Order: sequence, then structure tokens, then C-alpha cells
Amino acid sequence: MTAKIISGVEIAKQIREELKAEVAGLKEQHGVTPGLVTILVGENPASVSYVTAKQKTAHELGFHSVQDNQPEDITEEALLALIDKYNKDPAIHGILVQLPLPKHINETKVLYAIDPDKDVDGFHPVNVGKMVIGEQCFLPCTPHGILEMLERSGVETSGAEAVVVGRSNIVGKPIANLMLQKRAAGNATVTVCHTRTRDMAFHTRRADILVVAAGRPKVITADMVKEGAVVIDVGVNRIGKTPEGKAILCGDVDFEAVKEKAAAITPVPGGVGPMTITMLMKNTVQAAKQFAG
Ligand code: GUN
Repeated sequence: MTAKIISGVEIAKQIREELKAEVAGLKEQHGVTPGLVTILVGENPASVSYVTAKQKTAHELGFHSVQDNQPEDITEEALLALIDKYNKDPAIHGILVQLPLPKHINETKVLYAIDPDKDVDGFHPVNVGKMVIGEQCFLPCTPHGILEMLERSGVETSGAEAVVVGRSNIVGKPIANLMLQKRAAGNATVTVCHTRTRDMAFHTRRADILVVAAGRPKVITADMVKEGAVVIDVGVNRIGKTPEGKAILCGDVDFEAVKEKAAAITPVPGGVGPMTITMLMKNTVQAAKQFAG
């Protein structure tokens, strides 16, 4: 079997078209333009490229978009004051602080300082708590994107064995929780594997749906995947550079081998990545709508 390729680029494009119409509606009916600020501390190259992509998309969708670059040595106090300024700014509906932050800044304190109504990353404990109990909230962008991909590709999750590899707060824990819930792309029987899992392959081979967010290149090999499984690869690993200096990326899944066994698979790049940015935009439109009432 050669897998169907689930294109994040195509699905993201669809959602962005839907968002453009929503943005136009918000402007016309409420005079509200979705406002997004992305705060970048320092110059970590991966963070710079993520933030640039987020701003570019916000701009394309007609948002009021602000890129706020701060020096690596900004104090925690100054960063908290900046967040407070944007919390109070009526033109800003979404605040994103790009992670990771420098060591001298307490990341938890910073994330807690963001107004939960502007927390378009879905990282504030108020939103995390609401997500766990299935209340309306901002869902974290990568898991949110995975749900949309599963739903829009017609993957049946109800009753399926879903196995998640990775237990991060950003991907593993939330996607496991969401797929467990009574909701679209939910109702799965969920297993979570991590670095202390005794026999990873035993679990992954049982998966109808395998979500991999391990953060290690090509850790999932073909022998670890069931024939006909749906494989979602969240990994973005920089494994080198082209002679032109462009990063060479690969996922956490051995794509070439696994695609011969799976029923469907997401590529890297062009899979989950474009969805993450798009869901940030969707959350910002949601925030602006809530603001507009
Ligand atoms: N760093 C890596 N992924 C993310 C993300 O989704 N949001 C933020 N704020 N920082 C990140």
C-alpha cells in the first residue's frame, strides 16, 4: 500500500480562505480588525523563522499584526510590563510570546501573565483547564491543527486505537486529551508513549492512528507501524543545510519507508507545520469575535 498524503498546505489553504471571509465579515459588521502581536525575545534562528511566518500569514489575512522584537537581555519585569500593555490594548486580540525564552526569564510566570481571553496559543492554565473539561476555549495550535487535519481528511477516530508518542505540554498531552474527548476527531482509545515507555514498538504497532511528537528524527520506522495506519508526524528536525544555506528538514517518522505501509501520512515539511500557523490565525479570529461580542 502507498499512503495517501495528507497535505497540511492544502487544508491550511482551505481554512485560510474561510478565515478571510470571517475577517471581512468582522470588519464590515463590527468594525473590528483581528489584532495579533508576536513577541520575540532574542534571535534564536528557529524562533525568528516561526515568528516571521506567523506575521506573514497574519498580514495576508488582513489582520492588524505587530511584531515586537525584544533583546535577549530584557528583564523579566520589563517583559511582564510589555504583556500588561498588550493585555490592555483594545486593538490587540491575540498575544503570542514565542518560546523558548532565555534562561533568566521564568516561562511559566510569563505565560500566566497573558490575559486568558487573548491567549491564542492556548497555553494559559485557564485555557488548559477548560480544554481538559471540554469547555469552549483557545485550543493549543498544533493539536488543534491535527484535529482539523483528521476531520477534513475523513479519518474515523471514534473507537480507534490512537497512540501518541511524546508527552509535551504543547503537543503530546493536549492531543491525547482532545482525541479522548467526545468531540469531532475524538472518541478514540488513547495511549501515550514517552521516553520511559518500556516497549514503544509494542504500542505503536497497535495504533490505527499514530501521532508522533517525539522531537527526534526518524524514530518511527516502518516495522513500528501497522499496515493501514494513519500517521501524523509532528516532528520538525533540522538535519543539515543545502549549499544555499536553507535548512533541510525531516520529521520524527521515516517517511519514505512508512508511506509504503500506512493508509495515510503527513509529510514534513508541508504537513502539520502549516496547520499550526493557520490555527493561530483561527484562534485570533475567535478572540476578535469574542471581543466584538
Ligand atoms: N515554540 C515552539 N512552538 C511554539 C508555539 O506553538 N507557540 C509558542 N508561543 N512558541 C512556540
